[in-house]
Amino acid sequence: MNVLLSGGAGYIGSHAALSLLDKGHSVHIVDNLSTGSKLLIPKNAEFTNCNINDESKISDLIKSDKFDLLMHFAGFIQVEESVQQPEKYFENNTNNAIKFFNTCKNNGLNKLIFSSTAAAYGSVREKKLIDEDTNLNPQNPYAESKIRTEKFLFDNQDKFNFIILRYFNVAGADKKMRSGQISKKSTHLIKILSEVVVGKRDGIEIFGNDYNTPDGTAIRDYIHVSDLADIHAEIAEYLLENLESNLFNCGYGNGFSVLDVINTANRIYQNKIIYRFSSRRDGDVEKLISSNSKILKHINWKPKHNDLKEIINSSVKWEEKINASDT
Ligand SMILES: NC(=O)c1ccc[n+]([C@@H]2O[C@H](COP(=O)([O-])OP(=O)(O)OC[C@H]3O[C@@H](n4cnc5c(N)ncnc54)[C@H](O)[C@@H]3O)[C@@H](O)[C@H]2O)c1
Repeated sequence: MNVLLSGGAGYIGSHAALSLLDKGHSVHIVDNLSTGSKLLIPKNAEFTNCNINDESKISDLIKSDKFDLLMHFAGFIQVEESVQQPEKYFENNTNNAIKFFNTCKNNGLNKLIFSSTAAAYGSVREKKLIDEDTNLNPQNPYAESKIRTEKFLFDNQDKFNFIILRYFNVAGADKKMRSGQISKKSTHLIKILSEVVVGKRDGIEIFGNDYNTPDGTAIRDYIHVSDLADIHAEIAEYLLENLESNLFNCGYGNGFSVLDVINTANRIYQNKIIYRFSSRRDGDVEKLISSNSKILKHINWKPKHNDLKEIINSSVKWEEKINASDT
């Protein structure tokens, strides 16, 4: 398979590129390095430094090679920033994405996998696990920007074959330490916790301890980034074989509260993680746990890293690595 992959200098895109390359596929990354880094681009991938909205460069690139499909990871991902600057999110995550899809289609590339988010579901009280039929209830412009892009795809099913993947909380790092999270302003719990363990931060702020959950802190379904990366390789084969558009959740179906995660890390790292409570963040929701029965039924994928301790450990090891090299 020859894959055009946007956002491959970022966290999840670089892991997906590694998974594809490890399986013998070819990968050409398009990224403008706005939040990504050249350091995360796998050695064996081709790379073009370019904005996805650059119609002429993208057209030339597609004409110069024969791609089987597009994996679209490029986008902005910070919920709180999206509340402060919604237009920035609609411009990049919706308008640029749609322009990119159309450029690809106009050059004969109409099969794609789109990175969406479980934030599209918002807070779901009545269901224990969120399946793909759950009503959407976005609580922030980030989630809304992704839903608008999904809607474009659903409205254009005659023009594209696509798979939409709604990721739950992605965490952890490549086992061989070839990639991990590098963002210096990440708001992801396990990344921040890892920074505390290696001494880059003094402690963690927990936003909200008055949610309607057993310990009052918000609950999430954490999926290891390498399992998510493998899903992309499998789902690509599925799309190329079946040419059937579809939508899947990506999670394990396990919920952990913020305190569960911190307590687990404190057991491994001798209570190094000091925390304090502060008020809820704008746009955050109470509980997001995935049902993954649909994806398990459709593709040949079994989680290999469904273990919170392993997720935390790999993230801390990566943090130690980038701390030592001052990345
Ligand atoms: N990280 C998560 O937990 C999570 C959860 C749900 C969904 N997602 C989605 O997964 C995708 C990847 O997320 P990530 O965590 O790897 O983010 P990231 O910021 O690490 O990577 C995004 C990459 O896209 C690039 N990019 C952004 N806008 C671009 C543009 N206009 N042109 C070219 N390149 C551009 C950035 O430089 C970066 O390398 C995003 O679409 C995000 O919405 C992530």
